[in-house]
Amino acid sequence: MSSDPLANKAHAWSALFSEPMSELVKRYTASVGFDRRLWQADIQGSLAHAQMLASVGLISAADLDAIRQGMAQIADEIESGRFEWKLELEDVHLNIEARLTALVGDAGKRLHTGRSRNDQVATDVRLWLRGEIDRLQPLLAAIQRALVTLADAHVETVMPGFTHLQVAQPVSFAHHLLAYVEMFARDSERLADARRRVNRLPLGAAALAGTSYPLDRAQVARELGFEGLCENSLDAVSDRDFALEFSAFASICMVHVSRLAEEIVLWMSQNFGFIDLADRYCTGSSIMPQKRNPDVAELARGKTGRVVGHLMGLLTLMKGQPLAYNKDNQEDKEPLFDTVDTLCDTLRIMAEMIEGLRVKPDAMERAARRGYATATDLADYLVKKGLPFRDAHEAVAHAVKAALARGVDLAELTPAELQAIHPLIGADAAPVLTLRGSMHARGVVGGTAPEQVRTRIAAHQARLAAA
Ligand code: ARG
Repeated sequence: MSSDPLANKAHAWSALFSEPMSELVKRYTASVGFDRRLWQADIQGSLAHAQMLASVGLISAADLDAIRQGMAQIADEIESGRFEWKLELEDVHLNIEARLTALVGDAGKRLHTGRSRNDQVATDVRLWLRGEIDRLQPLLAAIQRALVTLADAHVETVMPGFTHLQVAQPVSFAHHLLAYVEMFARDSERLADARRRVNRLPLGAAALAGTSYPLDRAQVARELGFEGLCENSLDAVSDRDFALEFSAFASICMVHVSRLAEEIVLWMSQNFGFIDLADRYCTGSSIMPQKRNPDVAELARGKTGRVVGHLMGLLTLMKGQPLAYNKDNQEDKEPLFDTVDTLCDTLRIMAEMIEGLRVKPDAMERAARRGYATATDLADYLVKKGLPFRDAHEAVAHAVKAALARGVDLAELTPAELQAIHPLIGADAAPVLTLRGSMHARGVVGGTAPEQVRTRIAAHQARLAAA
């Protein structure tokens, strides 16, 4: 028997085991194929733990030195692709620890004092996720900037605002775009809020009950930049609600992206013709030579399904687990990794695509004119002349009917025709019935009137400049 259990994992964990794992079980239980992605966090966490072990006198300064040198070499080997990942060493943690021991001997074997893979993996995932959150925030800012920049150029561009996808009231295209900026701004807030709960230290919880070694958890937390400690060891090693929160944030954010992507698909279709996308974001058809398809937007919409699916997967993973750690939790990584990758790529590509978007204001305006979008304005006009709103509503229905019969817009009805519909409609009704008149009239805070939209653009620009 080897004196070094980590060097000979084929016989599993300890002298207690009398037969090797079957190949299938090895493959089934191993996570190193994917959790090696945590290697930097794993080394960072181990170094902070080792430094604390040395400062409370549990290992010598020489041991700490050896561990640091060994870890530096391991980092180098992994970065350059020379590190040999071994399936029989199950996961990223055991692979790195075994290599450390091979490199520096007993000092490596002392590293795991007062620690378990249970608190180690929880620490690694939190450290890794915190880093990803900090990479995501600028991407969320970038997509908002792209939208605000486009909005800034289209404050006076009129489009039909829809409800039920039926033309409802004219709105500024900028106002429409800024709706998404509000959504992404909230996503960014949600992410910042989730980060506070990701950023807590599990180490010290050990396997589940804490440890009898006099560990200085606060020192490790400071060293790793955690804002606090997980205050219950059972909770520390077992709950993954921080991952659930992140995943919920990502799902909501992808749903926002998906709604925007859906609009881009609609707007680019011939029936809307509101926008055109740069060729580099479109694909052709193998059979129909005339086609230019908005595949990128469709994929962004489609990939929302997998991110939402991962949230369901993670919730379901957690729901039946008794305290404390269970191996089920090893299944948290692939969905989390894929969520991060999908969201990062999607935000990046959507921001780029928005920057290259060509707007067709004339088509938007034509569409707005087709649906009697200023009918509410005529009703409001009558109310301001003293008619009760319900009566005004009815009178305008007659006006729309008359316009439909003649195949014209409300603004094209003659003063005589309007007078015939209701005597209160005077010559001053004409400007009210234009698209721009309607848009400019909606000056309430948060409304589509250009001066409101400009105020909002300035506020977003100031916020995003500081981000
Ligand atoms: N690879 C494991 C995971 O991802 C590490 C923790 C293993 N702990 C254990 N007691 N088997 O959860």
